[in-house]
Amino acid sequence: MGNWRRTERKRNRFQMIPNILVVGSGGREHVLVWKIHQSPLVKKIYAAPGNAGIAQLAECVEVNAEDIDSLRRFAAEQKIDLTVVGPEVPLVNGIVDSFEAAGLRIFGPTKAAAQLEGSKAFAKDLMARLGVPTASYETFDRVDQAKHFMVQKKPPFVIKADGLAAGKGVLITNTHKEAVDVVRQIIEKRRFGNSGKRVVIEEHLTGDELSVLLFTDGSSILPLASSQDHKRAYDGDRGPNTGGMGAYCPCPFVSNEELNRIVETTARPVIQELNRRGTPYRGLLYLGLMMTPSGPYVLEYNVRFGDPEAQAVLPRLKTDIVPLMLEVADGALKTKALEWDTRACIAVVMASAGYPGPFEKGHEIEGLDKVNANGVFVFHAGTRKGSSGKVVTDGGRVLAVSALGESLREAHERAYRSIKEIAVSGGFYRSDIGKRVLENMKVG
Ligand code: AMP
Ligand code: GLY
Repeated sequence: MGNWRRTERKRNRFQMIPNILVVGSGGREHVLVWKIHQSPLVKKIYAAPGNAGIAQLAECVEVNAEDIDSLRRFAAEQKIDLTVVGPEVPLVNGIVDSFEAAGLRIFGPTKAAAQLEGSKAFAKDLMARLGVPTASYETFDRVDQAKHFMVQKKPPFVIKADGLAAGKGVLITNTHKEAVDVVRQIIEKRRFGNSGKRVVIEEHLTGDELSVLLFTDGSSILPLASSQDHKRAYDGDRGPNTGGMGAYCPCPFVSNEELNRIVETTARPVIQELNRRGTPYRGLLYLGLMMTPSGPYVLEYNVRFGDPEAQAVLPRLKTDIVPLMLEVADGALKTKALEWDTRACIAVVMASAGYPGPFEKGHEIEGLDKVNANGVFVFHAGTRKGSSGKVVTDGGRVLAVSALGESLREAHERAYRSIKEIAVSGGFYRSDIGKRVLENMKVG
């Protein structure tokens, strides 16, 4: 038996995965494709629909990331050995259930487990039941009840649409009147469509934010290095919330012991409970945390890699990601530790003028070929090949420049030196990614 197991394990470890499909078209998917491309196990990568950067490493197919039936047909026809899902919408809509029912291997949680991101009320109720530290909250589907609740409390209020809202469904209000207006817009005016049938109103927390990503097969947990996103559009954490304007990895204010403690208190109880309910979570789980004076609190769970966290974390990962994803997808995570580059990484996002509000598409991106330093990468997000053959903008977040450096400071300098080479008409980026931690913690 012992011998048989060993042989089996060995065989799995070196199993070829000729065809991989990556679903999505953002910077997160570009870095995933880039990382998968480094695996000696993989022959060919497809991306649906991909972008101009991904097209340099993978064959892009014109299938929308939310068109589950077409994706499944494509995967079956091309005999795809593993599908990796980047964005949350297809996961919440059940792409994993659909693929698995068709006998196709796929990396990501099922629809039931993806409720962790798909419904804030579901996630909050689970946390409350399990004693996971999170802001106190109430859920409402009527404006008058929400109003009555808030009269008894002091602002600021954090108001969240229950369902998916592309990172825009969280609003922080400083007065009662503003809060009631926001609740009315969400529940009655359906500002976020059906995602706003219910709202969660939360206590406002303060502290440093932290992102922790982890692999899990439903019982074993393997955390990745910590990272920090910068959600606001402009320098100094001003302006509207965005999908994320830049990230760095690792966070110098979180030790490995602290990271493990965070996982034990904020992730393990939820993973165990989902398992107990018969809806195990398999995939990548993202913990969005606030490091409050009374310890780490969960702001949200996401059911996929963070964007742009992935562009700061994955360039540091030395371990081949493909066996990891296979083990997770097969519900048998055997890898016990990950190997990391000792260097730090910073990813700075270039966005279109106007983002996260309305923006124009189709502007030429100049200077991409000038970024060629060792350990500096351009991960495309909203880009496509224009009719002139040049790469043009095609989304709010256009690209991220990720730079490795011996220290966070060096990574910061290298990232900014490189992004200055790139010009997008009207494009902007924050000039202070990682700056606060560099100043506060006086780290190299
Ligand atoms: P979420 O999508 O739930 O992570 O919220 C988006 C952003 O809103 C977070 O990254 C925080 O910056 C902020 N946020 C969410 N919940 C709270 C809270 N309870 N207190 C303060 N800020 C919050
Ligand atoms: N960077 C935040 C997110 O991916 O949700």
